[in-house]
Amino acid sequence: MCGIVGYIGHREAYPIIIKGLQRLEYRGYDSAGIALYDGTDIKLSKTKGKVSDLKERLENEISTNGTLGIGHTRWATHGVPNDINSHPHYSNSGDLVIIHNGIIENYDALKKELIKRGYTFKSDTDTEVLVNLIEDVKKNENTKLGKAVQIALNQVVGAYAIAVFDKKKPNEIVVAKLGSPLAIGIGDDEFFIASDATPFIEFTKNAIYLEDEQMAIIRRHKEVKVRKIKNDALVDPYVQELQLNLEQIEKGGYEHFMLKEIYEQPQAIRDTFRGRLLSNEALIKLAGIEDNMKKFLAADRIIVVACGTSWHAGLVAEYIFEDLARIPVEVEYASEFRYRNPVITEKDVVIAISQSGETADTLAAIKLAKSKGAFVFGVCNVVGSSIARETDAGAYTHAGPEIGVASTKAFTTQITVLTLIALRLARAKGTISSSEFRHHLIELETIPNKVKEALESDGYVQTIADIYKDAKNFLYLGRGYNFPVALEGALKLKEISYIHAEGYPAAEMKHGPIALIDEHMPVVVIATKKGHYEKVVSNIQEIKSRKGKIIGIVTKGDESVKELADHVIEVPETIECLTPLLTTIPLQLLSYHIAVMLGKNVDQPRNLAKSVTVE
Ligand code: G6P
Repeated sequence: MCGIVGYIGHREAYPIIIKGLQRLEYRGYDSAGIALYDGTDIKLSKTKGKVSDLKERLENEISTNGTLGIGHTRWATHGVPNDINSHPHYSNSGDLVIIHNGIIENYDALKKELIKRGYTFKSDTDTEVLVNLIEDVKKNENTKLGKAVQIALNQVVGAYAIAVFDKKKPNEIVVAKLGSPLAIGIGDDEFFIASDATPFIEFTKNAIYLEDEQMAIIRRHKEVKVRKIKNDALVDPYVQELQLNLEQIEKGGYEHFMLKEIYEQPQAIRDTFRGRLLSNEALIKLAGIEDNMKKFLAADRIIVVACGTSWHAGLVAEYIFEDLARIPVEVEYASEFRYRNPVITEKDVVIAISQSGETADTLAAIKLAKSKGAFVFGVCNVVGSSIARETDAGAYTHAGPEIGVASTKAFTTQITVLTLIALRLARAKGTISSSEFRHHLIELETIPNKVKEALESDGYVQTIADIYKDAKNFLYLGRGYNFPVALEGALKLKEISYIHAEGYPAAEMKHGPIALIDEHMPVVVIATKKGHYEKVVSNIQEIKSRKGKIIGIVTKGDESVKELADHVIEVPETIECLTPLLTTIPLQLLSYHIAVMLGKNVDQPRNLAKSVTVE
């Protein structure tokens, strides 16, 4: 995780780097630092805390002049978050300064070697080891910085996106990437470096995304030179035109990104199926599926790999694929799958789901599946991300940037894409009739407006949040398609309010969680009309007889649950397989309001990060 930013050009670097770090705080926010070259020396300031703390400290501490600089926002891996462990890190001579996103796995062995050679270390980080290794190579081999970085990185095991400069050669920054993302913005006689394009979007639309095992030497007034780390060979980089705009990455009047993103869902879902769902022609067009239809139709099974909220979207997909397309599905935590020696064959199709497209475990699971000959299809939000590039084919969710750490619109748009895929395969396999198919398309098209309607419950959800905000535990129950929604509802609450919450299949409640129920336990039960409704109503009765507080998520007009529950939140009616797209909405709002009422940092909850590039 961690976010990195750099600048070299004709403008003052400081404001660009600070603003850039703020945009990258979703990647980590336990400490931050910056190093600027002011024309004679390096000015470095770093601190535990957020970028705003750095800003406050820095403006009193050092001069912020200079047209070259690097900055970092950290999510600690090696060493607790404190001032010393924050980046940037100096080399022993004080000539080199580095920022790093990733983990150097063999840092301990390298550190011992360097200590033998007289190097000393101030921090507990792997990054300080790396900058000294580069310095050591530079001295011993008497080489330029770029060559020293290349040689040093060949001794390193792990993942990195780094930016390093030498105060004796203050007209270049050397960057390199393996496993963690790194984009270079190409401006007019100026260059930007960042973990994603958001820090430089108002300056340039042209960017190079470094590939794994590539490095670049970025010189003032020169072209960027991209090389392979392994053998130093020159690479002709692909300069991509960015589609992102500034408005998409700003709050647009909302108090938090999370709330903005919750409210963006009608549009995001519409954007996801635009040009793909053609209800008049009764067609679904997804190039990644059409081009690989044979593989999907011949598949013995589909294995979904993902983490976090994306894993929950995978669980919803299991129901949709099995129900509509009659293809067996297994849903795996990428972190378990990659280390389990799983049985994978060439007849398996693997679907990897990831908002960021950078999650280290998901990426490793993809590589494993590919090495065993499986066909791997990606469902990602971030265009050009590592997972999007690593997979054999894929479909983007087109949700737009998701900045709040707790995922919202990514989840509903992932479900939307997966539904389109399941329907397309169902049609191709003939497991759904043409009239059913058409009916599903028409229903899916109505979902954005229904999500909008579901959002109208916001005021009432706030009232409920106020009543239960001090509860110590929450239970979320759902069945069938809405079981994964219960898991997701519980995860959202945990992530941003730090209240313990569990999601359970409603019928499993009697095998354990029922013991927790008393008059202090709020139980959120998803009880929409389609799908095991009567059975869920029985579960509600079981909770009621144990005095649990019931918050029912029901279909509009429902009367039975209203009689039993303490509160009901209505969502519009739809076909069963699409209900998760609606029932999720009040659960997102409930967590959001509880967290706000408890004074939590909704967009940057403690210990979490949006893009988890460490395993
Ligand atoms: C982190 C985020 C979650 C996300 C998960 C998987 O834990 O905080 O919101 O669901 O990573 O991320 P991905 O980008 O692969 O969907």
